[in-house]
Amino acid sequence: MNYLLKCGLALVLFTGLAACSAQEEKPKTSAEDVRLTAEDQVYVGFVLDTLKDERWYKDKELFEEAAESKGAHVKTLAANGNDDVQLKQAELLIEEGVDVLVVVPHDAAFSAAIVDMAHKAGVKVISYDRLITNSEVDYYISFDNVKVGELQASEVVKQASNGNFAYIGGAESDNNAVLFRQGAMNVLKPLIDKGSVKLIHDQYTDGWDPITAEQNMKTALAKNGNNVDAVIAANDGTAGGVINSLSSVGLAGRIPVSGQDAELEGVRRVVKGTQTMTVYKPITLLAEQAADMAVKVGSGEDVAADQSVHNGKIDVPSLLLEPVAVTKENVRDTVIKDGYLTEKDVYQ
Ligand code: GAL
Repeated sequence: MNYLLKCGLALVLFTGLAACSAQEEKPKTSAEDVRLTAEDQVYVGFVLDTLKDERWYKDKELFEEAAESKGAHVKTLAANGNDDVQLKQAELLIEEGVDVLVVVPHDAAFSAAIVDMAHKAGVKVISYDRLITNSEVDYYISFDNVKVGELQASEVVKQASNGNFAYIGGAESDNNAVLFRQGAMNVLKPLIDKGSVKLIHDQYTDGWDPITAEQNMKTALAKNGNNVDAVIAANDGTAGGVINSLSSVGLAGRIPVSGQDAELEGVRRVVKGTQTMTVYKPITLLAEQAADMAVKVGSGEDVAADQSVHNGKIDVPSLLLEPVAVTKENVRDTVIKDGYLTEKDVYQ
């Protein structure tokens, strides 16, 4: 075999080998290899359930801003309400070398798998706004969600202290929806026990979907010959669906309806009088404190948490913030004073 041919062959083999070894090297990608941030910069993964509801956009913006102002790098992913996608997104962020995961679980129980996977990689997990149940999650930061339900029912009962009540809840997969309902029932039960209130409809709303809530309310109205005196709806999205149903039978603005999240349309309905109240949860504070917690935990520090919440497995160190009831009377002293919404947007 002549000399040149031999050289040619040798050349092909070498480059081939080099390529394989490069490829061989690829499977060994570890967090360090694909780490997107400088060694000393805390890398935070923010894993959202959805960006469907108005508030989650604010959470995303406010959390990223707060964490970046503390020198961290943040990557936010949203799972559009899909558990498998959320698990995969957490896996990708762990592979990318995040130091801490901040998770808004779509499904409280299913997301325990994210905690297990993160802990195997030495990554701590903070449950943001919604609790991950039955897991050894490291921290929980949210609002007093039982109190949210109590505020909703109390404001409705101020307008209607007896009669046929409907409860239109949130997504049962969301631990918050269970807590909101618990709070509402804390207020209603004494009235139900003494017979002044009758709970004629009581249903969770899959995926917190306003259209589903509208349909469920239609069913409740049809089942009771439109004889409904009050509705406790778990958030502004479901309240909007409920009020659409009520307006189709001429009841909108005539019976009290609760909400939550101080969405612009929710607060406008409160001002207009078709919705009785909403619950304002100062997300700026939540995002700020969660970012502070994430950067500390991501740097290997422990965070002092003066409360704990049992999640079915452990007492999770927790930080629970105060929710605020918003009615027509205090819109300016709450959401507008805080700059959460503007006078122009609400009253235009
Ligand atoms: C809950 C959250 C509420 C509401 C709802 C729908 O977990 O606490 O603020 O927005 O999800 O996304």
